[in-house]
Amino acid sequence: MPFIRNAWYVACWSSQVNSESLFHRRLLDEPVVFYRKQNGEAVALQDRCPHRFIPLHLGKLRNDAIECAYHGLQFDCSGKCVKNPHGEGKVPAAAKVRAYPVADKHGMLWIWMGDESHDAALIPDYGVLDQEAGYLTSTGGYIHIKSNYELMAENLLDLSHITYLHDGLLGSPEQVGADQVVREDGNTIHCDRWMPNITVPGIFDMLYKRDGKPVDMWTNMQWVPPSCFRLDSGVQAPGGQREDHGWYYGIHILTPETETTTHYHFAAALPSGTRLTPEEYAKFADMRRYAFLEQDTPILNAQQEALGGANFWDMKPVLLSIDAGPVKMRRALERMLKAEQQPKEESRSEKLVPAT
Ligand code: FES
Ligand SMILES: [Fe+2]
Repeated sequence: MPFIRNAWYVACWSSQVNSESLFHRRLLDEPVVFYRKQNGEAVALQDRCPHRFIPLHLGKLRNDAIECAYHGLQFDCSGKCVKNPHGEGKVPAAAKVRAYPVADKHGMLWIWMGDESHDAALIPDYGVLDQEAGYLTSTGGYIHIKSNYELMAENLLDLSHITYLHDGLLGSPEQVGADQVVREDGNTIHCDRWMPNITVPGIFDMLYKRDGKPVDMWTNMQWVPPSCFRLDSGVQAPGGQREDHGWYYGIHILTPETETTTHYHFAAALPSGTRLTPEEYAKFADMRRYAFLEQDTPILNAQQEALGGANFWDMKPVLLSIDAGPVKMRRALERMLKAEQQPKEESRSEKLVPAT
C-alpha cells in the first residue's frame, strides 16, 4: 500500500542534524540527506546525485552546499546544481535534486514529502516536550522496527497487549477487564482504557510509591494521522484522584522507512510533581526502552515476517473487541489515502480523453 504523503513525519531528533556532517535516512521509501546551513536552518534533499546516482551523503559539505563524492557536482539547499567543475562549467538543466520542506519543532525534525502546500501549523502538538512547559522529559528514544508502520500503530493504539507482553512492567493481569472507550474526533482517534482496583505495574509502583498496593489505572491513547501518538497513562489510589506523581505522557511517533520497516521515535514527559530520584528517573527511561525494544519489537518483527508481502485484510484477521480502535484507524488511513490519490487519478483520466 502506498504511503500518505501530504503529512508531516518525524525525520529524526533535531540534535542528529548539524552543519558539520551529512545525516541520511530512507523515509517513505525515498533516500533523504540532511544537514544544517551555517545559520542553523535544517535542509533535506533527495539523497541521490542525478549524474550517476551516488548517494549525496557520501559527499562533503562546502559551505551550505553538498559536493558529490564522485565527480564533484555541487547542490545548494534548494537542490539546484550550483557548480559543475567539468568542461566549461555549464550546469545541465536536469542537474537538480528534490528539496523537502523541514521544520524543527518540539526537539524533532519534521519533514513534508507530499506535493500539496505545507503548513507548519499542521505539525501535531507535542508542546509537553518543550522546556517552557515545565515537564521532566526523557527524549531521544529511537528503535528501528522491521515491520510496516501500520502494524506498530495497532500495537500503540490498542494497549490491551500490555497485560501479556509487558506483564509486571507496564501491565498486570486484571487490566484485561478494562473498560474501553473508542471515539473519533475528526480524523483523530482516542482509545481510552480504565482499570479500577488492579495490581500496580512496576513502573507505576516506582512513580506513585504504592509499595505494591492496588491502584486505579488509566491508559488514554490519542492517534493523530498518519502516525503520531500521545499516551496519558497513570495510576491513583482506588477511588481517589489523579495526583501529579502517578502519571506521565508517553510520546510515540512512527515514520515509514519502507513497506516493511519503520523508524520509531519515543519520549516521555512527567509532570513537575514527579517524585523520582535521579536513579529512579534513569530506571524509568530504561524500563520503557526495555519494554519497547525487548518486548514489542520482536513481536512486530515476527508479525511482519509471518505476513510476508500479503495484504492485511486479505489474510482475513480474526477481529476482537480490542480491535475497535485499530480497525477505525485502518479505515481512516484508507480514506485519507484515497482522498490524496483521487485528484491524481482524475487528472490522469482527463489526459486520456482523446482530443476532438
Ligand atoms: S555521481 Fe555525482 S557528480 Fe557524478
Ligand atoms: Fe507495547
